[in-house]
Amino acid sequence: MILLLKKIARVFSKNFKKEKNNTSLNYLVCERNTRIEGLNLSVRNPAKDKYMYIGKNSVISGNFVFETASGEIRIGNNTFIGGGMFVCIEGIEIGNDVMISWGCTFVDNNSHSLRWSERKDDVRDWKKGLDENKIGFYKDWTNVKRGKIVVKDKAWIGFNCIVMKGVTIGEGAVVAAGSVVTKDVPDWTIVGGNPAKIIKYIPENER
Ligand SMILES: CC(C)(COP(=O)(O)OP(=O)(O)OC[C@H]1O[C@@H](n2cnc3c(N)ncnc32)[C@H](O)[C@@H]1OP(=O)(O)O)[C@@H](O)C(=O)NCCC(=O)NCCS
Repeated sequence: MILLLKKIARVFSKNFKKEKNNTSLNYLVCERNTRIEGLNLSVRNPAKDKYMYIGKNSVISGNFVFETASGEIRIGNNTFIGGGMFVCIEGIEIGNDVMISWGCTFVDNNSHSLRWSERKDDVRDWKKGLDENKIGFYKDWTNVKRGKIVVKDKAWIGFNCIVMKGVTIGEGAVVAAGSVVTKDVPDWTIVGGNPAKIIKYIPENER
């Protein structure tokens, strides 16, 4: 009995240490039976309790960065993400039964204004944040274009793809390896290239 209690205490303290060492995981809600090994979550200027939600039976790794106090990333059930970079100020929503291969980058905003007059202080402000150990704190996001990224159920995104702001990738769609997705991808199509264009339609009997 004592041995059993000691074993339970050991397992508990191990898990607790893991959580304590990466406090940013406190911003994550994860449902049962999901694996989140190798997941780095960085919330630069937190203003709420939770930023990221993952459903059940998923396998998720990668770097997830919230640049401002806003934004939310939602990932469904039975979904796989094999690493990569997800940068959010608005929203990234990934459905159920989705596969996202290694090396993919999702950014839901332009990072800087297209006008020099509106981005001229960006470096100075960024450096000030770094100097004060408050990364991103002084950056002005007012004139940065942004748009939620959505990946619908059953989509498959090949390795080393880039998905830009405001894009919706349709249900069951396939994005060929190395593509840059700048426009919406219709359901049950295969797209590829830079910028990604339709290569094939997936007929109903091949879904
Ligand atoms: C998209 C994909 C699934 C298509 O496979 P496929 O049906 O066997 O396709 P094919 O090789 O017959 O190519 C079909 C067409 O798509 C084009 N194509 C294939 N891969 C492409 C790519 N990565 N980018 C741009 N075009 C591509 C081919 O040039 C060909 O064009 P054509 O019809 O004008 O000749 C495959 O190319 C791919 O990218 N797989 C991803 C693999 C991956 O990411 N694995 C990681 C583990 S999940």
